[in-house]
Amino acid sequence: MLAALCLVSFSFPMLWAQTFISCSYKSQCQQALLSGNDIVLRCDHKKALWYFSSIIGENMVLLNSRPNIKKLPGGSLQLSDPQPSQAGLFRCEDDANGLLVEYEIDFQDATTLHITHKDLGQEPLQNETLKLGGEVLVFTHWKPWQDCNRCGEPGERKRLGYCYVEEPLETPMPCRLYLRDEKVQYSRLRPEMQVEGCFVPCDPDKEIQQPFFIFDIYQLGKLTNPMWLTCPLASIYR
Ligand SMILES: *[C@@H]1O[C@H](CO)[C@@H](O)[C@H](O)[C@H]1NC(C)=O
Repeated sequence: MLAALCLVSFSFPMLWAQTFISCSYKSQCQQALLSGNDIVLRCDHKKALWYFSSIIGENMVLLNSRPNIKKLPGGSLQLSDPQPSQAGLFRCEDDANGLLVEYEIDFQDATTLHITHKDLGQEPLQNETLKLGGEVLVFTHWKPWQDCNRCGEPGERKRLGYCYVEEPLETPMPCRLYLRDEKVQYSRLRPEMQVEGCFVPCDPDKEIQQPFFIFDIYQLGKLTNPMWLTCPLASIYR
């Protein structure tokens, strides 16, 4: 039994804490992201229409109502708790069917995240070659280090790394976008997170810009089953 002790919530506009994904106007961009973390695909057009086709290359369908996808008033598309199965092409058009922007997204499975701590001597995944007709290289494409989680005292920071595939002489691609519907069970095909110690001085300007979060407090009763507590608006991208 889970008894809610009390619920404290600050209602700040949701967008404050959201991770925006942008790519330039009238173009297509490819992105790897993590499943289970909310994002907003940017398209600043009030009458925007969003279409979707999965990585298997189905026809584009108009995204009307899906439980975890919502069009925001400004035109951008909010995806809550996106799943690896939602990888594919998200296309934003104006009301005259003109292309505004196209996002091809690989939602890499956060439940398979390979986590290592640099200061504990733990090694990230190695580059590997995979035989798929020809040989391709599977490697981790690291994003920049995120902010330190403390200031004025020792803290930790993290960075995310996504699974990418590189064919000789070609531009690397996020793994699922490369593999499409190819059914390969291969343990190297997973995202990574690396943690390390950090020490930064405090910067008052930056403190003020930190978003506020909604939080809940629960009292745990006698549990018979293991359970997950989800922190609302928490995000691995920050
Ligand atoms: C792994 O492959 C990537 C992409 O080709 C390359 O940038 C990186 O240096 C390689 N890492 C190692 C340790 O060889």
